Amino acid sequence: MSSIGEMWDRRFAEHGWPSDPDPYLVELAAALEPGRAVDLGSGPGRNSLWLAARGWDLTLVDASQVGLDQAASRAAESGSRVSTVRADLLSWQPEADGFDLAIVANVHPSPADLAGLLARAALGLRPGGHLYVVGHHLDNLGRHGPPDPERLLTDDRLAAAMPAGLAVELLESRDRSAGCAPDADAGIDRVVLAWAVRTASAGTSTT
Ligand SMILES: C[S@@+](CC[C@H](N)C(=O)[O-])C[C@H]1O[C@@H](n2cnc3c(N)ncnc32)[C@H](O)[C@@H]1O
Repeated sequence: MSSIGEMWDRRFAEHGWPSDPDPYLVELAAALEPGRAVDLGSGPGRNSLWLAARGWDLTLVDASQVGLDQAASRAAESGSRVSTVRADLLSWQPEADGFDLAIVANVHPSPADLAGLLARAALGLRPGGHLYVVGHHLDNLGRHGPPDPERLLTDDRLAAAMPAGLAVELLESRDRSAGCAPDADAGIDRVVLAWAVRTASAGTSTT
């Protein structure tokens, strides 16, 4: 597919990827009743596999076929089933009102593309469904995440990208333990995260 898919194919095939789920997703989603979830930019599916093991019905969307295949085979090994979709997140549209939870974890498009991605994710949520977003903080520049500072997050940047139609219940920066970061030996990994619930009509950026 795209060069981004090929780049991540090589990354996942040659170096592997952490399997522990995101600790803040675990904290926030543990109390939810299982339903349908979509993991946008899932990679090998560390968050999807955690949810699937708890009874969630997962759809994983990613440009990397290697990442999707790794997720599907790990799910099968643990007795879970997941659906995978190889697609470009910058154009993929979820079915309207189809999901109870949407995850965008460690995907770092340009600011305009992030707003569009989150708006489409919100459109895929049922009223009452949740959106979880997490990404590297600008403080990580040169240590974790993309080398382009425009693509790293601050609280203000993520707030500006959040779509209308969602009530933001939490949006803040936190330190993530190094064991959950892809480059676990590169020290503290500061992230920005948001947890929001779909109220009514969703999909338009608040900016
Ligand atoms: C840093 S990895 C994160 C994987 C996973 N969400 C996690 O937190 O472990 C970024 C993932 O986003 C995917 N990705 C980035 N841009 C994409 C795009 N435009 N379309 C589809 N997938 C994309 C990559 O293929 C890769 O699997």
